Amino acid sequence: MPASLLRVLTCGSVDDGKSTLIGRLLFECGGIPDDVMLALERDSRRFGTVEGGVDYALLVDGLAAEREQGVTIDVAYRFFETEHRRFILADSPGHQQYTRNMVTGASNSDVAILLIDARKGLLVQTRRHAAIVSLLGIRDVILAVNKMDLVGYDQAVFDRISADFNALLDRLGPLSVTAIPLCARDGDNVTRPSSTMPWYSGMTLLAALEAAEPTRRRGDEPFRMPVQYVNRPDHTFRGYAGTIEAGVLRPGDTVINTTSGIEARIARIVTMGGDRTEATRAEPVTLVLDRDIDVSRGDVLAAAPRPILADQVSGWVVWMDETPLYRGRAYQFMLGTKSVVGTITDIASRLDVDTLEEVPIRELALNEIGRVTISLSHPVACEPYADSRTLGGFILIDRLTRNTVGAGMVTASRASRTDIYWHRLDVDKQARARLNGQKPAVLWFTGLSGAGKSTIANLVEKQLLAMGRHSMTLDGDNVRHGLNRDLGFSEADRVENIRRIAEVSKLFVEAGLIVLVSFISPYRNERVLARDRVEEGEFIEIHVDTPVDECRRRDPKGLYQKADAGQLRNFTGIDAPYEQPIDPEIHLPTLEGTPEELARRVIDELRKRGIIT
Ligand code: ADX
Repeated sequence: MPASLLRVLTCGSVDDGKSTLIGRLLFECGGIPDDVMLALERDSRRFGTVEGGVDYALLVDGLAAEREQGVTIDVAYRFFETEHRRFILADSPGHQQYTRNMVTGASNSDVAILLIDARKGLLVQTRRHAAIVSLLGIRDVILAVNKMDLVGYDQAVFDRISADFNALLDRLGPLSVTAIPLCARDGDNVTRPSSTMPWYSGMTLLAALEAAEPTRRRGDEPFRMPVQYVNRPDHTFRGYAGTIEAGVLRPGDTVINTTSGIEARIARIVTMGGDRTEATRAEPVTLVLDRDIDVSRGDVLAAAPRPILADQVSGWVVWMDETPLYRGRAYQFMLGTKSVVGTITDIASRLDVDTLEEVPIRELALNEIGRVTISLSHPVACEPYADSRTLGGFILIDRLTRNTVGAGMVTASRASRTDIYWHRLDVDKQARARLNGQKPAVLWFTGLSGAGKSTIANLVEKQLLAMGRHSMTLDGDNVRHGLNRDLGFSEADRVENIRRIAEVSKLFVEAGLIVLVSFISPYRNERVLARDRVEEGEFIEIHVDTPVDECRRRDPKGLYQKADAGQLRNFTGIDAPYEQPIDPEIHLPTLEGTPEELARRVIDELRKRGIIT
């Protein structure tokens, strides 16, 4: 029987003595090769902070420095073993991106060590770590109260910190907590009991780790496997490769493709070591089915009862980006091996890490944890995170920068559109456009306030009218008097402003019209959203490009003067951003021509693109 494996997450900052603690554990469990040990003794004499002794922090920090040269991973994994068990320690560096790293580390750990500096007690960061650990499904927490030497090994200090933490438990969920007083520098209660704290008779840190249970998985879970890729080397073989997420599988078992609802039986279970008569959780396999059913990457093969095929999910999101999460914004949503577009339809609350209570909010900022609802462009097979980390854990990716900006855990999901039908109408966009004798399109004018968007759009529409075209104009100033009168100029409101306009312009395109949209629309993200609402070739982005100094000089509404005087806040180009279009269909540098010339350029371009003839 091989020793069982325990995955341990360490949370805390370098100041709390995290490096020293990890270094100690590795050293005392013989996880450090001799040559490294020699180097460590030498370095400790030269750079160490521990007089006359070995500075174990140098070991871990040295590894960290090495790792940072590679910069590809931000969670370091270290291995060590005792005669009872093997361990993987996940250590996330505690810099700016610590939340992201913690989430990555926590999502596959069994136990978390929360490190506390005895002098400081519970910090906001400790509560944040505890909340994330709990949300990510870790049930076993070791509260490592370090630097006991600096509080005179005082039991009262330790008892107070333990009590403070226990007071949080009713709000954190079902955690089992073991508190241990430590002096990592001297090794007290790390692997051997301490004589300096005779009042403590509990386990050492290592004993607690050896006693911990790996996150229990029910033995009877139904089979699940997200398909990573379709393996089809030639026409004689077709297999679906992936890692079994849950359950046990044998040839002859019935599985269903969750996306299509079609069933098949397992013909073969192929692995590197040959065919198998049984395979189980965490094993990479290639499955051959007894008949040809359509299965693609991202689909989930499952035994009954199958996961919900949801197009709406709710859950917790840990936000990791400088730019907050806004309602109405769309992101790439990845769950299992599936990737779709997810639009934030609601942001309900934020977890206040001080009180661990939920506070209503409108947007979620960096490092905050919030409850959101996301609407998906295509249905995705998912389960609550509590049941499955793979089918319940998701990430959100910024569609422009490709950065991972959020990590989430599904708490509820539903196939919402089953009760809102999409009516197929006999009179459709093509029929309406044909009657109008034109190709519908969106002409999306974007640029600073006073850049000349409305002026040029107005001239273009007059020409279209003269040519007998059917059109409609949506103008920021006008729409904000009606449909969007509830919105101001905060980032969140502008996102919602443009989301609505994107939907409205799509409706006008359905009506067969040429829609002229004239909004500052400062964010690329929402312009991409608007583009995605219509078909390829129907969206013409027109950058009305006027330098801010020229806009200020023209100042048709006197708003720049007000903004400069500090009477108008969040003014685009002054104290609110404008994200330039990267590759617009039409670029109009307004300093280079009169509005009439620029309007003519737009008409010429529309002709070239076949939108008008
Ligand atoms: S957007 O940024 O959300 O796209 P929109 O085009 O609807 O803006 O509205 C911009 C118009 O609102 C400007 O032309 C200007 O007349 C007016 N306005 C009032 N306050 C502001 C502000 N803080 N920033 C920009 N425009 C403002």
